[in-house]
Amino acid sequence: MSELETKFIEEEKSLSEQDTEAHVEAAQEMKALIDAALAGREQAVTPFSHFRVGAAVETEDGKIYRGCNVESASYGLTVCAERIAIWKALSEGERHFKRLAIVADTDELTPPCGTCRQIIWEFCRDAPIILANLRGRVETIQMRELLPRAFDVRFLKEAGKENGS
Ligand code: THU
Repeated sequence: MSELETKFIEEEKSLSEQDTEAHVEAAQEMKALIDAALAGREQAVTPFSHFRVGAAVETEDGKIYRGCNVESASYGLTVCAERIAIWKALSEGERHFKRLAIVADTDELTPPCGTCRQIIWEFCRDAPIILANLRGRVETIQMRELLPRAFDVRFLKEAGKENGS
């Protein structure tokens, strides 16, 4: 084998090692987010539905805020785990989010409700949403698939331009 060929093979090897390391790191980070959502779920306040949900949102710089659903005797005031995680992060000054995980104990993975989809879109944009259950099933879906043709602040800005209000 020529010197050049050997060098090429070595470079390829080190590239694929780097690739594997990056994959391992990404998997560990995703596990940390799912674990945070699981820990969030432990705090669920669900005297009415007994349906416990946990969520965790990750900021651009890697901080994680978790939430759980909190139910009210006036049912409509109940707040989902996803929004609680996002409200917590926003109220601590966070504005840039990378992704969000949701965990519930369902075979078919629980997706965010309609209200939460709107809020997630407004604050996390087209972030990957990781859905998981307690049996290790995990799926990632982009927000634009969950909320196609979403309404957001862009439309408000356009209307303002048109009528000067
Ligand atoms: N729930 C969530 O926390 N997140 C969802 O995405 C779906 C629904 C909660 C709200 C309520 O406490 C319970 O699940 C039943 O709807």
